[in-house]
Amino acid sequence: MKNRSLVTIAGHSREKIEYLIKMAQEFERHPNRRLLAGKVVATLFFEPSTRTRLSFETAANRLGARVIGFADPKVTSGTKGETLKDTIMMVSNYADVIVMRHYLEGAALYASEVAPVPIVNAGDGANQHPSQTMLDLYTIYQTQGTLDNLNIYMVGDLKYGRTVHSLLMAMRHFNPTFHFIAPDELAMPAAYKRYCEEQGISYVEHQDFDADTISGADILYMTRVQKERFADLMEYERVKDRYLLKKDMLCKARENMKILHPLPRVNEIEYSIDDTPYAYYFQQAQNGLYARQALICDVLGITLDDVIKDNTIYQ
Ligand code: CP
Repeated sequence: MKNRSLVTIAGHSREKIEYLIKMAQEFERHPNRRLLAGKVVATLFFEPSTRTRLSFETAANRLGARVIGFADPKVTSGTKGETLKDTIMMVSNYADVIVMRHYLEGAALYASEVAPVPIVNAGDGANQHPSQTMLDLYTIYQTQGTLDNLNIYMVGDLKYGRTVHSLLMAMRHFNPTFHFIAPDELAMPAAYKRYCEEQGISYVEHQDFDADTISGADILYMTRVQKERFADLMEYERVKDRYLLKKDMLCKARENMKILHPLPRVNEIEYSIDDTPYAYYFQQAQNGLYARQALICDVLGITLDDVIKDNTIYQ
């Protein structure tokens, strides 16, 4: 079988992204189906998660699959010394697809190389988070009516934030202009800026975070400072509260501007913003269900045509 794993979204073409958006739209119309009846989806989370794990599990459950797995690696035989390879080989005996989050960059790639079933990367260290990117792309398309020629402002922890790394790479087909707003300590890594240059993507770097700086944004993508990635917690304390989006900073925002955040939010967006028409992060998280239904089906070889013709819909 061709390895259909989803390790990174960087290799997806424009057509493939548009295809997955169409599939997610079908699932938004009808999320309850029996398309995956008889399948087993395993969710192996070696790092904490709320949205990613629960939306993958909801996606599988609403499509009629059964779900096995763990949310805490401390309850597994990894604590007795079992390797990642052996864990993956074991779970491949039980499940048709493995959704895995791991704290090590490259863990998903490694798992995809040893596993006989598809692996879906649910986040590997500070590296990539392709299913988050798929729901981000879906949400951007939903709010802007296009993915092309947008001004995307990324704010906060651009060094360790895997969601911004993944999104940056996926947007290469759509001629974005990026604005990176981060303190020096959390700046977008050189490798990703080099990637922009190689792909002909424009970017501007800022340290100021105020109404004027963000007035040109179509998408304001806020991020949490990733405490768990810091070797020096004193450094985390120094930077953790540097960029808080306050309501009065939206006074010059474009009408179409939407604020996204992969969540969890810690201290990046004032709660008073939740009730403004700019806030879209909760709808974004809801879109995770539809995007992940599309991704699970795609890695299992179920096509958009299969979904359109599907007659297993239930209420
Ligand atoms: N966005 C995201 O990955 O959230 P969780 O860590 O809660 O899964």
